[in-house]
Amino acid sequence: MKSRHATVQLCRLLRESEGNIVSGGHVSRVLSLSRQAVWKAVRDLEEEGFVVDSVPQKGYILRELPSNDLSPSLIGSLISPECPWGEEIHVFQSIPSTQEAAKRIGRQSQTDGLVVIAEEQTNGRGRRDRVWISPRGTGLYFSVFFRPRMLPGRLQLINLAAGLAVRDAIGAVCGKPVSLKWPNDLLYGGRKFCGILSEASSDPERIRDCSTGIGINISLTREQLAVRGLENAASLGAGTETVHRGSLCAAVIEKFYRLAADLANDGGYSLLSRYREECSTIGKNVSVLTEEDAFSGRAAGIGDNGELLVEGKDGIRSFCAADVVHATPDVKDR
Ligand code: BTN
Repeated sequence: MKSRHATVQLCRLLRESEGNIVSGGHVSRVLSLSRQAVWKAVRDLEEEGFVVDSVPQKGYILRELPSNDLSPSLIGSLISPECPWGEEIHVFQSIPSTQEAAKRIGRQSQTDGLVVIAEEQTNGRGRRDRVWISPRGTGLYFSVFFRPRMLPGRLQLINLAAGLAVRDAIGAVCGKPVSLKWPNDLLYGGRKFCGILSEASSDPERIRDCSTGIGINISLTREQLAVRGLENAASLGAGTETVHRGSLCAAVIEKFYRLAADLANDGGYSLLSRYREECSTIGKNVSVLTEEDAFSGRAAGIGDNGELLVEGKDGIRSFCAADVVHATPDVKDR
C-alpha cells in the first residue's frame, strides 16, 4: 500500500487537533485540496484502519488510530515535514525481502528516501549471505532506498550512520539502552537484536543508489528465538511493554536522514566523531572473522572510511567488512 501525500497530511492535521473537530474548509485550505479530495483522503485513512467521524456541517474528528502499528499514513505523519525521506512508504504483508522490493520500486521512482516495510519476509537476508529470520508481526523489517552522493569506498559510513540512527531512535521511542557493535549490530543485554545491511549499485566513481535494510527483533521470546536457532539473539520488546513499530520506524527514518545529510555536508567528520565515542567495540579485545581468516587483537579505532582498526601482535590491521566477536563484554554491551 502506498502512502499518498494527502492522507499523511490529513493524518497529521487530525492528530494535531487532539480530539477536536477540524473543519472541512480548514483541511481543504491547508492541504490545497477540493472538498471532494478531502473526503476521499478521509475514506483512504479509514481503509488503513483510522476511525474518523464526519460531523455534518462541522468537519472531521479523529477517534482512533489504526490497531495495526504499521499504517503508512501514520508513519508518514510521524516524520517531520522537514525530512524529505519517507514521502513514499510501501507496506507489504508478505514479501521475500524488503531489499529487493525497495530496489525494484526505488529505481522506477524519482523519490529519494523511499521506504518499503514488510510484516513478514520469506527470504530475509543478512550480511555475508546469511538468512534474516523475519516471522510475521514479531519484528520491524524495512529498507530505505536513496541516492547518496559519495564514492563507493565510503559505503561503510552509511552503515555506521544507520546504526547510530537506530540506536538514537530506540533511545527516543523506547527509552532502552542498547549498544552498538562495529559495524552496525545493535545489542540488548549483550545479545544482537538488530542487523543492518546496505547494498549499493555503483560506478567506479560514484554510488548510483543504495538500499539500507534494517531488521529489528521486537517480540520473539527467548524460547521462540531458540526454536529458530537464534540462541544468542535478543528481542527489543520481549517481556516488556509493546513497542510501536510505526513510531520506531518513523524515528529511524528521520534520524538516518539527518545523519546521512550531515555525512554529505561534512564528509563524515561529525558522524565519525560520534561513532568513535559510542561504538562499544572500541578498546575491547576482539576476534575478527573475515572470509579468509581470523585475527585477534585490541580494537584500537575507526578509520576515516568507517573501517575497524585492530592492534594485534604484529601491528595494526584494518578491516572494511568482517564479523567481530567481543572477547571482553562490559558495561557498554548492556
Ligand atoms: C545482518 O546480517 O546483521 C543484517 C540483517 C539485515 C536484515 C534486514 S530485514 C530488512 C531488510 N531485508 C532483508 O532481506 N534484509 C534486511
